[in-house]
Amino acid sequence: QKKVAILISGGGSNMVTLVDSMTGNHPARPCLVLSNNADAGGLTKAADRGIATAVVDHRPFGKDREAFEAELVKPILASGADIVCLAGFMRVLTAGFVSQFEGRMLNIHPSLLPKYKGLHTHARALEAGDARHGCTVHEVTPLLDDGPVLGQAEVPVLPGDTPDVLAARVLEQEHRLYPAVLERYAAGDRTPVLLA
Ligand code: GAR
Repeated sequence: QKKVAILISGGGSNMVTLVDSMTGNHPARPCLVLSNNADAGGLTKAADRGIATAVVDHRPFGKDREAFEAELVKPILASGADIVCLAGFMRVLTAGFVSQFEGRMLNIHPSLLPKYKGLHTHARALEAGDARHGCTVHEVTPLLDDGPVLGQAEVPVLPGDTPDVLAARVLEQEHRLYPAVLERYAAGDRTPVLLA
């Protein structure tokens, strides 16, 4: 069985769906939930599920990403993680950090990549007048929101959508997509998962 560390910054709804999916015959089990933010709501949800948690606050390190990451990596290594899942982790990671987990770090991003890398994806899809929007799980490479696509799920953009309404529709699909991708990935299968 593979061990999975999940990195969060906020509410952790994707983390919860990942943790709750790793039961029975699933090829992986959660070993750690790690946050850069001590107030992340996901930390208590993880603790309630009996998962080890850790916090490495980025703020004392200021702009020194390497110094932050030198601390961030410690609990991940100590947990023995085979796979690292970014799930609403809102810090950009350096190439040096990413290279330590090459081929075993995943991220979920709320757009149909390669469209709308970075922030404010729902507002940007609305502004562009897109008819379809969605989410992507990809392998993490040193370039932001880049790397091989492991799965995508689409939603329609509907008349009257606001960024929040659209975000909620996408988030529902994130909760289907990420567990489906992780299950395949942990079993060594990198065939993309495509959800309609
Ligand atoms: C999710 O929509 C995720 O795709 C997004 O943050 C949200 C976290 O929600 N991630 C990014 O924007 C990464 N740049 P959650 O904490 O409830 O899983």
